[in-house]
Amino acid sequence: MKKIYCLNAVSGCGTALLTEDYALTDYINEADGVLVRSASMHELEFPEGLLAIARAGAGVNNIPLDECASKGIVVFNTPGANANGVKELVIAGLMLASRDIEGGICWCKDNKDDENIAKSAEKAKKAFGGCEIRGKKLGVIGLGAIGTEVANACSSLGMDVYGYDPFISVNAAWKLSRNIKHITSADTIYQECDYITLHIPLVDSTKGMVNQSVLDQMKDGVVILNFARDVLVNEDDMAKALQSGKVKKYVTDFPNPKSVHMEGSIVIPHLGASTEESEDNCAKMAVEEIMDYIDNGNIRNS
Ligand code: MLT
Repeated sequence: MKKIYCLNAVSGCGTALLTEDYALTDYINEADGVLVRSASMHELEFPEGLLAIARAGAGVNNIPLDECASKGIVVFNTPGANANGVKELVIAGLMLASRDIEGGICWCKDNKDDENIAKSAEKAKKAFGGCEIRGKKLGVIGLGAIGTEVANACSSLGMDVYGYDPFISVNAAWKLSRNIKHITSADTIYQECDYITLHIPLVDSTKGMVNQSVLDQMKDGVVILNFARDVLVNEDDMAKALQSGKVKKYVTDFPNPKSVHMEGSIVIPHLGASTEESEDNCAKMAVEEIMDYIDNGNIRNS
């Protein structure tokens, strides 16, 4: 019997696919394969017989890749499986940054005068106005599965979309709408876009890439969205840029003590992939990858 250890609970749709040769175990020490979502594996000791780890998600920065490579443990992720879920939340982020939805909802909830709420809403209309995203320039940095979905969706909402990715795959390039301006330097995005959204992995070269010198290049009042990874953005520099008005809104899917208290930040608790559909897709793909490797030696998406 082959054993699978779940470091995080993943959707039952995935584990239901395990064939009769497999069982779930409560002990990582006896596992042939590990399923993980966002829990960090950096401090874990890997057992001798561990063959594969599958991340039910896109980013693999919670897994010590060098250690896995040296021990011959194959690491999989699930590219594209949660792309639609993340894309939809990015669009919500664009709306939250452009319209004062948050202010308007709080105003309604805080209202103490039920009788006159409809009448006083006339004043609220003025207080919680916003702008439209149609016709605005959006820069998408990173054109993997999620970035491509975001670029195409925003283009169909009427935004003027610029895409940048020095490592774009042929597959992603085919999926990119003809309306996206695929550019060869991120500087064009920094200098020209009204909205900038990050969809790149966290590696040494991308850590802190949105810093003072990059922010200085941007248009005044730019909106930045980060649904990729927390530390891509230098939070101290972002706090200053928000304070000076250089950045109008910073929408981030990563709560931390700095981001939640910044003036002008909109912070979401890492919910991009938290939909039934994304969780099911990721878990299914992760389980299929692990079994295909353990049973047949096939490596998909590693
Ligand atoms: C990802 O890397 O795709 C996300 O972090 C997934 C998640 O929220 O689990």
